[in-house]
Amino acid sequence: GRTAALIPAAGSGTRLGLGPKAFVEVAGRSLLARSVAALAPLVDEVLVALPEGLELPEDLPARAIVGGPTRQESVHRLLRATSAEIVLVHDAARPFLPTNVVHALLEAIPETGAATAALPVADTLVRGEGGRWGGVVPREGLWAVQTPQGFRRELLLRAHQAAHEEGFGATDDAGLVNRLGVPVTLVPGDARLFKVTAPGDLALAHAVAAVWDA
Ligand code: C5P
Repeated sequence: GRTAALIPAAGSGTRLGLGPKAFVEVAGRSLLARSVAALAPLVDEVLVALPEGLELPEDLPARAIVGGPTRQESVHRLLRATSAEIVLVHDAARPFLPTNVVHALLEAIPETGAATAALPVADTLVRGEGGRWGGVVPREGLWAVQTPQGFRRELLLRAHQAAHEEGFGATDDAGLVNRLGVPVTLVPGDARLFKVTAPGDLALAHAVAAVWDA
């Protein structure tokens, strides 16, 4: 069956403060161009959700649609724009995507129909209570969830339709699928898959790009 990469890139980039985030450049190349380039050789088609009024740069091997007011709505729209059997959902804001993570994900999807890249938590975790140390949350067994996340399209579409009808919002797609009672397989992600969110993340992105682009 066919595989599609779905890239939500319709965020406004408010926290970064440099305009629509997917178009922000790191070492001369946009976050979106980097994400598309990582996925295009590994899938049959790449679909991107863009902010209204913005166009896909012509040299990118992808098809664009207009995103929604939330990431979840952008992904829901992307899902309805493809008929691929397998979909890989990947944030444009995670521009450094190692090929081996995509291969591991594609291998894991058939198990339950859903898999995500994730990393075991390395820091000590603590609950904040009014700005004070409220007690340690044991980090054993805790994972930080990344993208890409991979699904049988029909399963993810069902999860989105259910969430939409029930007014349930989530920051990722695997959570919506797990809500249906379907197990999600955790695949080792990569520290380089961090999400560019705050201005400080750009310095890190430049450092990674210096090695990545070499
Ligand atoms: O805001 P955040 O960094 O968590 O967004 C994650 C991804 O979702 C980004 O690539 C962003 O462009 C995308 N997004 C979207 N539509 C929205 C909001 C965010 O496609 N309405």
